[in-house]
Amino acid sequence: MKRILALILGLGLGIGLIGVLPLSADEDKDEREKYPFYPSLLNTTSGKPVKSGEFESPEVCRECHAEIYDQWKGSMHSNAWNDPVFQALWRLGNKETGGLTEKLCAGCHTAIGTISEEILQKDEKGDYKISEIAKHGVQCDVCHSVKAATYKDAKGLEPHNATLLIDPGDVKYGPFKDAKSPHHETSYSELHTKAEFCANCHHVFHPLSGFPIERTYDEWKNSVYQQNGIVCQDCHMATVEDAMEVARTLKKVLRPGKAANEGPERSHIYSHYFVGGNVTIPALLGYNKHADMAKKRLQSAAKVEIIAPAEMKTGQLGTVKVKITNVGAGHNLPTSLTEVRQMWLEVLICDKDGNKILHTGWLDKDHNIEPEATIYNTPGVDKDGHQTVKPWEVARFEYDNTIRPKGSATEVYSFVVPSTQKGPIQIKATLCYRSYPQAVANLLLGKDAPVLPIVDMAAASGSIKVN
Ligand code: HEC
Ligand code: HEC
Ligand code: HEC
Ligand code: HEC
Ligand code: HEC
Repeated sequence: MKRILALILGLGLGIGLIGVLPLSADEDKDEREKYPFYPSLLNTTSGKPVKSGEFESPEVCRECHAEIYDQWKGSMHSNAWNDPVFQALWRLGNKETGGLTEKLCAGCHTAIGTISEEILQKDEKGDYKISEIAKHGVQCDVCHSVKAATYKDAKGLEPHNATLLIDPGDVKYGPFKDAKSPHHETSYSELHTKAEFCANCHHVFHPLSGFPIERTYDEWKNSVYQQNGIVCQDCHMATVEDAMEVARTLKKVLRPGKAANEGPERSHIYSHYFVGGNVTIPALLGYNKHADMAKKRLQSAAKVEIIAPAEMKTGQLGTVKVKITNVGAGHNLPTSLTEVRQMWLEVLICDKDGNKILHTGWLDKDHNIEPEATIYNTPGVDKDGHQTVKPWEVARFEYDNTIRPKGSATEVYSFVVPSTQKGPIQIKATLCYRSYPQAVANLLLGKDAPVLPIVDMAAASGSIKVN
């Protein structure tokens, strides 16, 4: 199967795409002519590659936007290129697809490396060599050089696969209508205040099959948050505390401040921590503050409740329900790489001395989750139905049991109360999260793989009287 896929991909886009994409061959040609960095849908105002020297390093912005710089540095945006898990998977993809994923993935993880075409250059050892500036991943001058999103409304397509029009140079696009800077021009951009801005990258489609692999934007679009005008920025460019209030009240929280050291006082300033659920990579790269914030963010997302009878008899068949509610995330829980992320339920039912009656969601000695556990995810399969975590192979999801915004999932556990049972039965339910299966981390990071941190997102406990 792998050989067939490699063959299809290896034939190159020209032949490979025909018959696979829902578009006609003409439309497809149009797509490729329209987007010079295809299969990434990035573009520049000149429609041509741009030298990375046309952009300024975040270190330059730091001189006047010190606070914003300190927030951004260490975020997964600043790590998007250096992230060792990205690097490993990207290199594997480039090998297995004959280079087809090179521009596709890099378009979002280093837009500057892609539009400068530096990611296509290699050193003597055959390794990628890109300039220092391109290594800063999703940086100030990527986001603030965005002039427009180029998706085509007419076809019903939403922003995806980096449909960003990049305008390198003096103008910084941002949320203010009256900003004046001694260093650069400014231009008001409504796009930056909308979820559609983030959607350009947080909406990943398989370029051959059109299958939506990362759907954070779609999940949000169908949510109560969207209906109330709450956008990604209101939670991810805010503290976890403010985001929790936003989730609870469905109203924006305003934080006055300054956008530049010498700038005027503004009625609201957005933070640039961009914290999600990744505690692994920031900690691995030495950004403990971001890792701690991600842990807090995860712990703000869900509520766990135990629904159990007050009393049971020995020998009786009993059931206990555990209900998980997505109270804090503006999208499904978990979201994005849902074929890889692991959010699962550990339930322990025991007597008062700790003797187990039922236990699920435990880890084996290799840190794998036991096979009976409930995991909230979307296992990816290739076109022959074999499970895969390689995005270039994913043809569809086997199922999707991620939890919708403000939605819930209820699990039922049955057991027989032991005849020897004395005293009350104790129940403990914990919702756990880690970024990847341990085996995937081991495969990608080899001997450098850490034992992955697990965050307890939420927990509940209860007891049942026995007579
Ligand atoms: C349209 C933009 C886009 C494209 C194209 C894209 N990614 Fe990503 N990638 C993202 C975003 C956004 C995230 C963050 C999602 C999250 O962390 O929940 C991400 C996260 C990842 C992660 C997780 C890193 C971690 O430490 O958890 C890996 C690995 C990754 N991408 C690899 C790839 C590979 C390989 C490709 C190409 C086959 C690719 N990406 C293509 C936007 C993109
Ligand atoms: C010499 C100081 C200085 C430097 C260097 C600087 N800026 Fe600014 N910038 C400012 C000031 C002052 C403002 C206006 C703040 C205000 O009005 O609240 C500003 C405003 C902005 C805005 C808001 C624009 C709008 O219309 O909403 C953005 C975005 C921005 N800067 C990005 C950057 C980026 C990216 C860099 C680095 C490439 C950078 N700045 C470097 C001083 C600077
Ligand atoms: C992932 C994209 C992204 C990156 C990277 C990014 N910004 Fe922003 N920035 C935004 C968005 C979006 C807004 C406006 C949010 C809104 O108004 O809803 C913003 C707002 C701003 C503002 C206006 C003041 C405020 O905070 O509301 C300034 C100034 C600014 N950014 C500078 C920077 C600098 C300097 C860096 C790098 C250290 C940077 N940005 C990195 C997306 C980004
Ligand atoms: C140019 C592409 C791009 C844009 C625009 C962009 N992102 Fe991202 N974002 C990424 C990539 C790539 C990653 C993941 C890097 C990784 O994990 O290796 C990421 C990671 C994140 C994370 C961290 C995820 C985690 O697992 O912890 C959050 C939160 C996030 N982005 C929010 C936003 C928001 C909110 C916006 C809009 C204001 C936005 N992003 C705009 C590309 C982008
Ligand atoms: C109401 C607040 C809220 C809104 C709105 C919101 N998020 Fe989140 N987001 C969260 C919380 C809480 C988490 C942590 C739980 C999780 O991983 O889903 C999270 C996690 C994430 C992650 C990391 C997921 C992972 O496990 O790797 C990404 C990426 C992300 N959000 C992007 C976005 C984007 C893009 C939007 C807008 C389309 C958005 N978020 C809107 C609250 C919000």
